[in-house]
Parts: sequence; C-alpha cells; structure tokens
Amino acid sequence: MSNMLIKMKVNGTEREVLVEPEDRLLDVLRDDFGFKSPKEGCGTGDCGLCTVLMDGKPVLSCVTPAFQARDREIVTLEGLNDDPLMKNIEASFRDHHAAQCGFCTPAMEIMGYDLLKAKSKPTKEEVKEAISGTLCRCTGYYDIVDAIYDAGGSE
Ligand code: FES
Ligand code: FES
Repeated sequence: MSNMLIKMKVNGTEREVLVEPEDRLLDVLRDDFGFKSPKEGCGTGDCGLCTVLMDGKPVLSCVTPAFQARDREIVTLEGLNDDPLMKNIEASFRDHHAAQCGFCTPAMEIMGYDLLKAKSKPTKEEVKEAISGTLCRCTGYYDIVDAIYDAGGSE
C-alpha cells in the first residue's frame, strides 16, 4: 500500500488528507488538522488519553491507522464545544475541580459524554467502568467520577 488521499469528516467539516499506511489517526488530527485535545500519553493503546469518537464510538487514535478513518466521522472535544451535554460535563468538571494538570481531561470528558449519551443517569459504578481505561496521574479519580455522575443528573 502506498500513499492515499482519504476523506473524513472531522468535527463537522469534510477534510482530505494524504496518508501513509503507517500514519496514525492521532497525528493526522493533531498535526494535519490542528485538533490538540487528543493527547499522546503512551502511544501504545494503554492510557486512553488519545480517545476520540469515530462514528459516535470511542476509539484510541494512537493505535488507529489514519486510513481506517476514511469516510468516517471523527469528533474530538473541539467538536463538542457547543454541545449542551458537553457544556454540562465541563461545568461539572470545574465545580468538582476534576481537572488538575488537565492532560487527561479531554479524554475523560469524551468518555463521560459517551456514557451519558447512552445513559443519562448512570450509577457511580457505571461511571467508574466507563473511565476505567482512561488514566489520570493527578486526581485519584474520585473528583472525575463525581463530575461525570453529577453531570448526568443522578441523585
Ligand atoms: S496515547 Fe493512545 S492509549 Fe495512550
Ligand atoms: S488531571 Fe492530570 S492526568 Fe488527570
């Protein structure tokens, strides 16, 4: 396989990019398109910090070849700035001081969004499960779990 020109919709806009077979979706999003919210923590599929939505499902963009996004719809945190649910989640993160260094925050918020889209009032156990693959080196997770839980409107 050689270079190929692929199209994908990113945060609502059709994009074209020339990719090599080994190019990672993470690098295309950050370097070609300038969306810096997906972070590289490990680069090996272990930390979850590079998570984005592909056709509405979370994927690890560091282990997703860019060509797999061909004709797909990709959403990063930047694409959810005006989304009411994401605004709730972000406000709840602020209220709970759930972002310390902030490096994991975009991925945590994406995972919270994915959960709350599917279930508006999850239990704390379900919140913990939803973020179990997303690593945070700062918070001890409690504030993040509380932030997502409260954003869901649970009692
Ligand atoms: S950077 Fe992708 S899982 Fe860690
Ligand atoms: S707030 Fe620093 S890694 Fe989570």
